[in-house]
Amino acid sequence: MELFSEERSADVVAGSFAATPDPRLRDVLTALVRHLHAFVKEVELTEEEWSAAIGFLTRTGQQCDDVRQEFVLLSDVLGVSMLVETINHRTGGASTESTVLGPFHMVESPPRELGDTIALDGKGEPCLVTGRVTGPGGEPLSGAQVDVWQANADGFYDVQQPGVQPELNLRGLFTADEDGRFWFRTIVPRYYPIPDDGPVGELLAATGRHPNRPAHVHFIVTAPGHRPVTTHLFVDDSPYLDSDAVFGVKESLVRSFPVVDDARRAAEAGLPNPFRTVHFDVALLRE
Ligand SMILES: [Fe+2]
Repeated sequence: MELFSEERSADVVAGSFAATPDPRLRDVLTALVRHLHAFVKEVELTEEEWSAAIGFLTRTGQQCDDVRQEFVLLSDVLGVSMLVETINHRTGGASTESTVLGPFHMVESPPRELGDTIALDGKGEPCLVTGRVTGPGGEPLSGAQVDVWQANADGFYDVQQPGVQPELNLRGLFTADEDGRFWFRTIVPRYYPIPDDGPVGELLAATGRHPNRPAHVHFIVTAPGHRPVTTHLFVDDSPYLDSDAVFGVKESLVRSFPVVDDARRAAEAGLPNPFRTVHFDVALLRE
């Protein structure tokens, strides 16, 4: 094997993987080494900086447990999670765009009837969500499954506030009707910060970045024979739409939530008057 030199470092180390039996593993490791060495050379990394980086990654690992995944958070704030999501779910404009799953789909959403409310504690601004699930040609997908979960009006998920929020608050699994339509009652979610009391929070603070995500409702929409979509519905008057800490916002996913002041419609929907509404159609590609 060729001996190590500054000029040829990437080639020498990449060469050490030449006999890797799995060709994909060999390609990924070779590219990783090339980019890593180019990065170290570009910034002329000092030994103190190398040591700080090792310390940072060590603390990132130590912060991880059953409910906290600091490495995913690091991937999120570096835009890597969103990039992986995006290149793996190219839609060509023919279906609803996807975005990150996020860490709060920790429990299965309870099946509910169309029109049910998911706001079990009734706190927050009442809202009627309506939409329709279709295939790529606009054909209704009868029986599509619509899984939703969201933060409450204070910006917390149920799993973050056991004993404060009812269990399974603001979660629901709905089945679209024969025309692909779905509707349910909820409240308008609030923006919220990602956990910023660990190493990722230090990184955000050191770089003058805030930890917030704009207000959104999570969706996973599935239908037999079609590619599932994991996405968000963003609230158009939320702060941080143009500076999401995890880069999850796509223009096509932002909707207005207009106020409706109409006692008859409120009574029909089973909501107090006035209330807010939003319409979110979801198009799926064929498998
Ligand atoms: Fe979220």
